[in-house]
Amino acid sequence: MEEKNQSQTAPRSDQKSDNASAARPAAVGLDIGTSRIVVADGTPGKETRSHLNAFVSVPCSEMAENVLKQRGMVYERNCKNMYVYGNDSDFFASFLDTDARRPMHSGLLNPQEEMSQHIIQRIIEMLVPRARRNETLCFSVPGRGENANGNLVYHEAVLKNHLQSLGYKAKAINEGQAVVFSELQDENFTGIGVSFGGGMCNVSVSFMSMPMITFSVPKSGDYIDRNVAEVLGERNSTRVRLFKEENLDLSRAPKDDMTRALHIFYEDVLQALIDRLRTEFKHSSQLPKVDRPMKVVLAGGTAMPAGFLHKFETMLRAEGDFPIEIAEVRMAKDPLTTTANGCYIAAMSEAR
Ligand SMILES: Nc1ncnc2c1ncn2[C@@H]1O[C@H](COP(=O)(O)OP(=O)(O)OP(=O)(O)O)[C@@H](O)[C@H]1O
Ligand SMILES: [Mg+2]
Repeated sequence: MEEKNQSQTAPRSDQKSDNASAARPAAVGLDIGTSRIVVADGTPGKETRSHLNAFVSVPCSEMAENVLKQRGMVYERNCKNMYVYGNDSDFFASFLDTDARRPMHSGLLNPQEEMSQHIIQRIIEMLVPRARRNETLCFSVPGRGENANGNLVYHEAVLKNHLQSLGYKAKAINEGQAVVFSELQDENFTGIGVSFGGGMCNVSVSFMSMPMITFSVPKSGDYIDRNVAEVLGERNSTRVRLFKEENLDLSRAPKDDMTRALHIFYEDVLQALIDRLRTEFKHSSQLPKVDRPMKVVLAGGTAMPAGFLHKFETMLRAEGDFPIEIAEVRMAKDPLTTTANGCYIAAMSEAR
């Protein structure tokens, strides 16, 4: 028998504009990422908002519920468990000394996680108000890749159905192409957009706003954290992730084991992506001729550490036989919100 879930949201002043009571925008961009869900809708002063795409469950108890209530956390309970989701899950996971659970894995809904659809819907609803007049909402989906084929069709359909049930005209946008929409307006949306996320890297090679080559590589931030934790004999990867996010500088020679391992797996991810890009260009027969070298823009949380751009460019140019001429390689303006912003730009142009 299905259990009835009840949302218990203790209101908090900083959450007011996050939830369904916020003013309704004309168009919405939604980045549904493995690590974070980000919305961009042009709300003045709060153009983007985000929640961690994660949750923690604990068996129901009065004591645990009091902690949640005291801290004003968003949670939901059924008769057995309480679920804390979104940004509060990081605090609650460290309070319980555990890793948070994740609705998505490697860019797609996680088939090993029974709560995945239920929780991802609750997180989306915290960020996106119900539509009033069938507004356009563009949401990000990954490109095809080693682990993303039939399951990609399912992932896109499930999310689209949910967004339609909230009253939106929902349209999927390739994540690499969203980077192009956000960052390459001055180049007539011609160039290469790359998003280095938590679950995967996504690439789109775009000509005049048309994605000609799109693909994903199932290695990125989570892969780095998991492998560094494994080679260092760490029990879980949260400590590695927090160290990486706070301290990593790829422009300095590593001085300790953790940093050395992070450099090694960063290079592994970059090499896999560059090799795949080279192969895709070599095998692509339908590329239009461009009269100028192409620009490359890098976005996503994994591209955040100091020295990332230099490392990527050095590795890209190292072998000297790249199938096309590359002009400038640069970082996106705000790598953590680029995809959401690109989806917003796409939604506004659809809505017109
Ligand atoms: N300052 C930082 N330095 C290094 N890594 C970071 C930093 N901030 C975030 N990250 C990493 O970036 C990743 C999350 O990036 P992002 O939010 O772009 O992913 P996502 O869009 O949720 O995932 P995906 O696109 O793969 O589905 C995580 O691995 C996180 O640890
Ligand atoms: Mg992403």
